[in-house]
Amino acid sequence: MTKTPLTLAICGGLCASLLTPACQAADIQPLLQGYQQQGAAGPFSADAGGRLWTTAGANQRQCGSCHGEDLRQPGKQATTGKPIEPLAPSVQAERLTDPAKVEKWLKRNCKWTFGRECSPQEKGDLISFINSR
Ligand code: HEC
Repeated sequence: MTKTPLTLAICGGLCASLLTPACQAADIQPLLQGYQQQGAAGPFSADAGGRLWTTAGANQRQCGSCHGEDLRQPGKQATTGKPIEPLAPSVQAERLTDPAKVEKWLKRNCKWTFGRECSPQEKGDLISFINSR
């Protein structure tokens, strides 16, 4: 969407009053297309991503172990206690806008949480879930 002052004004007003997701979510199409090219069956599901988000890996590790249950709130690195900015694009506009960063952290975090890398389908589901917060 082109951010003319008019659309900004409309979106700003709508988001403030109605919390319209379209104004707040990141454009994750490039990421999702990439996962499809890597062999994901698709379509991607925020619900499936949400279930994976709360699935415990070994040692009860979950995505929420660091990012917390409410993605609009700051998280805390489970091992070091270092604060982590909220993951939800609705409160942190730069979230999910840099594919290289998303890839780097999904790789690292899936390994830490589940002891393996996530599949392209799982990554698309997780990103859809995060973007819906
Ligand atoms: C051990 C702690 C930890 C766990 C567990 C963890 N993360 Fe993260 N995650 C981080 C840190 C640290 C960053 C990078 C710092 C930042 O971006 O604020 C990050 C960044 C990310 C990003 C980059 C977002 C962006 O565009 O800026 C995504 C996506 C992400 N995590 C998803 C996940 C998912 C999905 C899981 C579960 C599979 C998960 N994380 C589990 C610590 C964790």
